[in-house]
Amino acid sequence: MSILSANQLTKSFGGLMAVGSLSFELNEGEILGLIGPNGAGKTTVFNCLSGFLPPDEGEVFLEGQSLAGLPPFQICRRGLARTFQIVKPFLTISVLDNVMVGALTREKSTAQAQTAAGEIIEFMGLARVARQEAQGLPLPLRKRLELARALATQPKVLLLDEVMAGLNPTEVDELIGLIQEVNRRGVSILLIEHVMRGVMALSQRVIVINYGLKIAEGAPAEVVKDQGVIEAYLGKEFLIAQG
Ligand SMILES: Nc1ncnc2c1ncn2[C@@H]1O[C@H](COP(=O)(O)OP(=O)(O)OP(=O)(O)O)[C@@H](O)[C@H]1O
Ligand SMILES: [Mg+2]
Repeated sequence: MSILSANQLTKSFGGLMAVGSLSFELNEGEILGLIGPNGAGKTTVFNCLSGFLPPDEGEVFLEGQSLAGLPPFQICRRGLARTFQIVKPFLTISVLDNVMVGALTREKSTAQAQTAAGEIIEFMGLARVARQEAQGLPLPLRKRLELARALATQPKVLLLDEVMAGLNPTEVDELIGLIQEVNRRGVSILLIEHVMRGVMALSQRVIVINYGLKIAEGAPAEVVKDQGVIEAYLGKEFLIAQG
């Protein structure tokens, strides 16, 4: 059963069509990868799904209900959270306080929000830096904080925009494990990622877009063999490296 669906989403910026009539479904419990070249429209899709940009055409449904016209905070309350490609913590407050801001969308008191935030910080391996200001964190921890903030809103659907960018292979593996655990706990995930190792390890299905249009959809192992996907995005080297 689909928990999130996009129906003919279209978004242009001036004369540039960033997303064109894109339809897809995220099934309950699934991890779905969304890949494609730089500028393909992936982040724009997230902006339309999460209420940060109104689509020109098309509609988004969360658990069968239309999200048309809802602002981001209401969409978040309904159970859809996102991370930002360019991470956006509150810079001058602590890691714990950053996560508490997310937790306050659900918890009734700051004490409850602090407890909930503390658990997520522990889970994300951020306990050591909980009292530090967010602006001092190195990139791998900033990426984790971004994920922690989204998790604190207790999403049913989580949109992850390049959470693995800039991480080394060990850090990527750790994050793969954490995302798998989040998914096991019942969160459906839509994953934008250029780190193909992460895409291949996590996704049950993958959608590929190019110039805003869907060019392939299916099992990861099949999609990466698709001639159009190789030409538009992966390059022949990818298949050779995969053996
Ligand atoms: N707010 C905006 N105003 C004008 N143009 C925009 C805006 N947001 C995105 N674009 C343009 O829309 C196209 C799609 O951009 P988008 O950020 O969605 O791509 P992307 O697939 O996320 O790329 P990347 O992999 O580099 O993050 C690009 O040509 C981009 O320059
Ligand atoms: Mg992007």
